[in-house]
Amino acid sequence: MSSILIIYRSQYGATKSYAHYLADCVGAVAKSYKDVKKKDILDAKIIIFGGGVYISRLSILKTVKRFQKHLESKKRYLFAVGLTDTAFEAIPRIEAANSDIFSYHFKEVYYYPGTFDVSHMNWFHRTLLNMIHKMMAKKEHLTDEERALYDAINHPQDKRDMQLLNPLIESLEHDIYQ
Ligand SMILES: Cc1cc2nc3c(=O)[nH]c(=O)nc-3n(C[C@H](O)[C@H](O)[C@H](O)COP(=O)(O)O)c2cc1C
Repeated sequence: MSSILIIYRSQYGATKSYAHYLADCVGAVAKSYKDVKKKDILDAKIIIFGGGVYISRLSILKTVKRFQKHLESKKRYLFAVGLTDTAFEAIPRIEAANSDIFSYHFKEVYYYPGTFDVSHMNWFHRTLLNMIHKMMAKKEHLTDEERALYDAINHPQDKRDMQLLNPLIESLEHDIYQ
């Protein structure tokens, strides 16, 4: 049994790679949301949720809601993975678009840049992004997030940086020895 559990939801692998790297660093178990059982939650002292940003929505929040009633006594963290470069730009926007985030009382919320390659995406996402690209091409002003998405549609990206996990690792080490 590990007292730190990382639960992730990852469509194209970026969130999964952060989750497993983090698990190796702090001796945690990383599981996809599909494989998590109630017992995993009950056994953990610290739970970290990680999910990708999809049209501004954070994919992991449904899972947090599902287990909410078992989370009260746990220390909870959240990390989001998206396309924008910095947490400074991304976190306020993610919080605004996912206002239910506040009801889960995370100790800290982190943001990490992910990957984007349309040629590896499923049909639904390719079609959706094609439509979004056409709509954005007509707009006079794009937000940072829209600009990042617009540029990435024609240019595959891998912005992952595992060093960005260091502040979260430090917080977890502090919690473990408390
Ligand atoms: C259909 C689609 C919509 C997306 N929308 C956003 C978005 O609104 N904001 C953002 O920052 N990133 C957006 N992204 C980028 C993803 O968050 C990014 O690819 C991330 O690495 C996905 O993580 P995952 O592979 O672990 O699911 C979108 C990606 C796709 C495929």
